[in-house]
Amino acid sequence: MSQALKHYLQFSDLNADEYAYLFTRAALIKQKFKAYDKHQPLTDRTLAMIFEKASTRTRISFEAGMYQMGGAVVHLTTGDSQLGRAEPIEDSAKVISRMVDLVMIRTYEQTKIERFAANSRVPVINGLTNEFHPCQILADLFTFIEHRGDVLRPLDCLQGKVVAWVGDGNNMANTWLQAADLLGFTVHVSTPSGYEVNQAVAGVSNSECFKVFADPLQACRGADLVTTDVWTSMGYEAENEARRKAFAAWCVDEAMMAVAKPDALFMHCLPAHRGEEVQAEVIDGPQSVVWDEAENRLHVQKALMEFVLLGQL
Ligand code: CP
Ligand code: NVA
Repeated sequence: MSQALKHYLQFSDLNADEYAYLFTRAALIKQKFKAYDKHQPLTDRTLAMIFEKASTRTRISFEAGMYQMGGAVVHLTTGDSQLGRAEPIEDSAKVISRMVDLVMIRTYEQTKIERFAANSRVPVINGLTNEFHPCQILADLFTFIEHRGDVLRPLDCLQGKVVAWVGDGNNMANTWLQAADLLGFTVHVSTPSGYEVNQAVAGVSNSECFKVFADPLQACRGADLVTTDVWTSMGYEAENEARRKAFAAWCVDEAMMAVAKPDALFMHCLPAHRGEEVQAEVIDGPQSVVWDEAENRLHVQKALMEFVLLGQL
């Protein structure tokens, strides 16, 4: 039974054709939302959202998205459920998935979401783990396509492009690598020493899909998109002081944007810390598309939820 389920645990769980479908579908769903045209294919379906870490965007986009599609939502956190009192993840998965149609989880280790999915009767979506954040990259790519491509031929504009990743070799960086590997672009990665991306953790076999730069400015040279993320991800707060020192030169500034392509975009998954990983002049400047990027979480995840439950329509 679980063989037929479409889980979305990491970016590589879908293929290029499925991404092409999702981007075009997300554009249609967005257009209908803007026109107040009802789109309710998930009437009577229930989504359970499990948060073991904090969230603003992920919670509101999944919750509002499910209601907009005619469904309902149950919100659980570690603190207010038995998950925080050591009920085995396998037991939780068996119970929760008998009562709802879809589960979204934000947690720590990727192995936790994998164990949940292996015991779930319904599709499971990754809302962020220590290793991956596939829903965010889905939104980021859709935002790039909207600004620089054509939603009817969504993958074309990604071919051969360069994405500069400045900062931590974290869940976002790993997911960018998976996307590059699958969709035909290159990631220029610059991290402080000791915070490199780990190709094995990222799960990409093709080392051509990324290039490593010691100097973040060089990573940005000629880039079509410059992107970064917090110096300290959720769950790593104990390393905060060491990271502040190590990451001081990994702040996306106007000099980095100046060596990127003249029409380069800037993205950040948010929340952002101005003056740390990005200068205010960049995130609040003309090349930044961070608000479109945040809004697009809603539209792409509606397309994703519809797809994992109903397939291509
Ligand atoms: N970008 C993102 O996932 O934001 P939240 O942590 O607010 O959900
Ligand atoms: N890398 C960040 C992303 C937050 C959306 C974290 O994991 O905290």
